[in-house]
This record gives sequence, structure tokens and C-alpha cells, in this order.
Amino acid sequence: MEIKGRFASPSSFSFPISLIQIFAIGSLIIITSKAYANPNINTDQSALVALKSHITNDPFGITTNNWSITTSVCNWVGIECGSKHNRVTSLNFSFMGLTASFPPELGALSFLTYITIKNNSFQGPLPVEILNLRRLKLFGIGNNEFSGEIPAWLGQLPRIQRLLLYGNRFYGSIPVSIFNLTSLLTLNLQNNQLSGRIPREVGNLTMLEDLLLDGNQLTEIPSEIGKLGRLKTLNLESNLISVPIPEGVFNLSSLIALDLTRNNFTGGLPDDICENLPALKGLYLSVNHLSGRLPSTLWQCENIVDVGMADNEFTGSIPTNFRNLTWAKQIVLWGNYLSGTIPIKGRKYMDYIQEISIYNHKIKKLQI
Ligand SMILES: *[C@@H]1O[C@H](CO)[C@@H](O)[C@H](O)[C@H]1NC(C)=O
Ligand SMILES: *[C@@H]1O[C@H](CO)[C@@H](O)[C@H](O)[C@H]1NC(C)=O
Ligand SMILES: *[C@@H]1O[C@H](CO)[C@@H](O)[C@H](O)[C@H]1NC(C)=O
Ligand SMILES: *[C@@H]1O[C@H](CO)[C@@H](O)[C@H](O)[C@H]1NC(C)=O
Ligand SMILES: *[C@@H]1O[C@H](CO)[C@@H](O)[C@H](O)[C@H]1NC(C)=O
Ligand SMILES: *[C@@H]1O[C@H](CO)[C@@H](O)[C@H](O)[C@H]1NC(C)=O
Ligand SMILES: *[C@@H]1O[C@H](CO)[C@@H](O)[C@H](O)[C@H]1NC(C)=O
Ligand SMILES: *[C@@H]1O[C@H](CO)[C@@H](O)[C@H](O)[C@H]1NC(C)=O
Repeated sequence: MEIKGRFASPSSFSFPISLIQIFAIGSLIIITSKAYANPNINTDQSALVALKSHITNDPFGITTNNWSITTSVCNWVGIECGSKHNRVTSLNFSFMGLTASFPPELGALSFLTYITIKNNSFQGPLPVEILNLRRLKLFGIGNNEFSGEIPAWLGQLPRIQRLLLYGNRFYGSIPVSIFNLTSLLTLNLQNNQLSGRIPREVGNLTMLEDLLLDGNQLTEIPSEIGKLGRLKTLNLESNLISVPIPEGVFNLSSLIALDLTRNNFTGGLPDDICENLPALKGLYLSVNHLSGRLPSTLWQCENIVDVGMADNEFTGSIPTNFRNLTWAKQIVLWGNYLSGTIPIKGRKYMDYIQEISIYNHKIKKLQI
């Protein structure tokens, strides 16, 4: 591997360090402190000049007019520096319309903590030199044109908290190494072409708050998902999962939104769903093959506002133990074998309800 080669000045290494390096090559560990002799703001400027040369289209002239070599890079649009070390700490090129790629020189910006380039036309490959950015907390490349497999080496960014790769054309399976990133708070891989199973190692991300994997072709969800005690959002909408919902999901006591819409989930729901999911606001389960009775406590969930259960195979009667309906924004139950009604007592409650579609719940799918 040539990662170390690119910025290293070999003469500065003493023998033992070279030895460590040799051993480290296999696991892609990079010794940055020695690799840059005296990195300073000029190092950062060279890296950004290299980046500028990788911009092939800048339709609004944002960098062409602004990134002038005669002004400090700290004044360039999209760049922020930290006052303490006078080094570049953040890149934000969101919505600039740029067509570009990341040069290997990006790895020299060793004080970077944030990279966000959402909604541009950045293309691959992602240079492995990104691994030199040991302080990186946010890596956001959503809605660009990266493709290929997600690089496994991303699993070695030690401080990363938000990994946002959504809206690209990544395919193949999710590398297990990603689940090595135990500081992760948000993992957003939505709207790619990822396939295969969600690895069991997902259960190692115990800090995770948002897991967004919707809009892929994933086929399996492991029971280890139940270990994510801080998870607030679990979104698996529009995948190809056709197993029962793992029991552990109903143990995620911090969960606010659970979206499993448009898969082929089978099996039923636990009756005491609200007891273990006290924070739940949105339960989106439409277009699956879920069956059995609706949880009798469903309307008792303290915070729930959206319930989507349409187009499943639920049977029995709609639970009637409402508190009142002031909480409801949407209740969607059509396309099941349910009987009963939702008692709406007067306009007062309706004022709070944006949409209640319970029509057809008696006869849709009733087969003779
Ligand atoms: C570049 O943009 C920044 C922020 O908008 C501005 O402060 C700076 O003066 C601009 N520099 C040049 C050379 O246009
Ligand atoms: C990045 O830039 C966009 C567009 O200018 C802005 O809306 C957003 O708040 C910025 N994000 C950060 C983290 O500075
Ligand atoms: C960002 O990109 C997404 C996907 O291409 C698009 O749907 C969205 O409208 C874009 N947002 C903006 C503000 O341009
Ligand atoms: C997991 O992370 C550690 C520490 O950052 C690293 O040494 C190791 O190589 C990583 N493992 C994988 C499979 O990426
Ligand atoms: C990560 O997850 C795997 C599979 O669940 C497990 O065997 C392993 O012990 C976990 N590693 C850590 C560090 O928790
Ligand atoms: C989901 O179920 C539907 C109807 O039974 C079936 O046509 C479709 O092939 C299934 N999809 C998957 C991914 O299992
Ligand atoms: C769910 O939580 C209960 C109570 O803490 C525990 O007994 C059960 O084993 C958990 N189930 C799963 C699948 O994690
Ligand atoms: C309905 O429920 C809400 C929230 O629980 C409560 O604030 C409100 O007083 C209740 N209204 C009636 C008429 O019971």
C-alpha cells in the first residue's frame, strides 16, 4: 500500500519507527505525526490548490472567483480554519453544483473535522489518504455520484461520528469494518444499491442514534439490532427484507421513528409495543406481509403521532381504547382484514388530524 509513501519523507524515520510502519502496513495504520514534517497553513493551501485542480465544472464560479491564491485559504468560501492552530478544520461545499473528485492531497488537511459536500457531482474513487484525517468527525458526501463498493478502510477513521454516504451509487454489501466505528452517531447509507445482509456487527455501534439504510436492496436484519440502546431512528424502508421483525427492535427504548415500509416483513407485532417503545412518534409498517392482531395498546403510546399499517394482513378488530385523538396526524390502516372503526367524537378532535385513512378496512382483500 502506498498511503504512507505519499506524504512521508523516509529520511526522517528512525529504524524502529520504520519497523513499526512495516508491521502497520497490513492493517493500514498511518503514523501521521512523523509523516508531515511541519504541517502548517501552507500545507493546507497546497492541498486545496490540488483540490481546486480536480474541479472540472463550477457552474456558479464559486471557487474560480473566490479561491484566490493572494488571500488566505481561511477566507476562501466553503473553508473554515481553527483559531488555535490556524489550520483548515472544515470543508463545506454543499449545494455548490461542483463536478469534481477528491485528490490524494486531501489527506494533508490533518486538522479537518468536517467534510460536507452534499448535493454536488463529486465522483470517485475516494482516495485512501482520507485515512490521514484522524480528527474527522463528519464525512458527508450525500447526493453525489460516487459509485463502486464502499471502501472497507472507512472503518478505520477513529473519531468519525457521522458517516453520510446517502444518495450515491454504492453497490455490493456493507463492509463489516464500518461497524468498527464505535463513535458513530449517524450512519446514513440510504438510496444506494447496497445488497446482502446487514452484518451482525451492527450491534457493536452502541452509540448509534440514527441508522438509515432505506432505499437499498438489503435482505436480512440481524437480531443484534436490539443492542442499539440509543437508537432514535431506524429506517429500512424499501429494501427486500422478508423475515419477521427481530424481537430486539421492540426493545429499543429510545426509538422515535421506526420505518419498515415496503419490504416483505412477516409475522406479528408484540401486544405491549408501547411499553418498551415509550418515545415512539412514528410507526411506519405499510406494505409488508405483517399479520395477527394490532397491538391492543397501540393508541396508548404516549408520544405517537403517525401510524402507518396499510397493505398488510392484519386481522381482528381495531383496538378501541383510545385516550383521545388529539395526538394523531396520520392513521393509515387500509388494505388489511380489520374490522371496527376509529371513534372520532366531533370536530374538536378532527382539528388535530391531518389525515385519517381507515377507509376500506373491512373489505379490502377479503377473499371469497
Ligand atoms: C470569498 O468569499 C468570502 C465569503 O463569501 C468572502 O469573505 C471573501 O472576501 C471572498 N474572497 C474573494 C477573493 O472574493
Ligand atoms: C454548509 O453550507 C450550506 C450551504 O451554504 C449551509 O446551509 C450549511 O449550514 C453549511 N453547513 C455547515 C456545517 O456549516
Ligand atoms: C439534493 O439532491 C437530491 C437528490 O438528487 C434532490 O432530490 C434534492 O432536491 C437536492 N436538494 C437541493 C436543495 O438541491
Ligand atoms: C477497527 O478499528 C481499529 C482502531 O481504529 C483498527 O485498528 C482496526 O484495523 C479496525 N478494524 C477493521 C476491520 O477495520
Ligand atoms: C462485534 O460484533 C460481533 C458480532 O455480533 C461480536 O462477535 C464481537 O464481539 C463484537 N465486537 C465488539 C468489540 O463488541
Ligand atoms: C414480496 O412479496 C410480494 C408479494 O407476495 C412478491 O411479489 C415479491 O416478490 C416479494 N419480494 C421479495 C423481495 O421477497
Ligand atoms: C428485551 O428486553 C427484555 C427486558 O429487558 C429482555 O428480557 C429480552 O431478552 C430482550 N429481548 C431481546 C430480543 O433483546
Ligand atoms: C387529549 O390528550 C391530550 C394529550 O394527552 C391532553 O392534553 C388533552 O387534555 C386530552 N383532551 C381531552 C379532551 O381529553
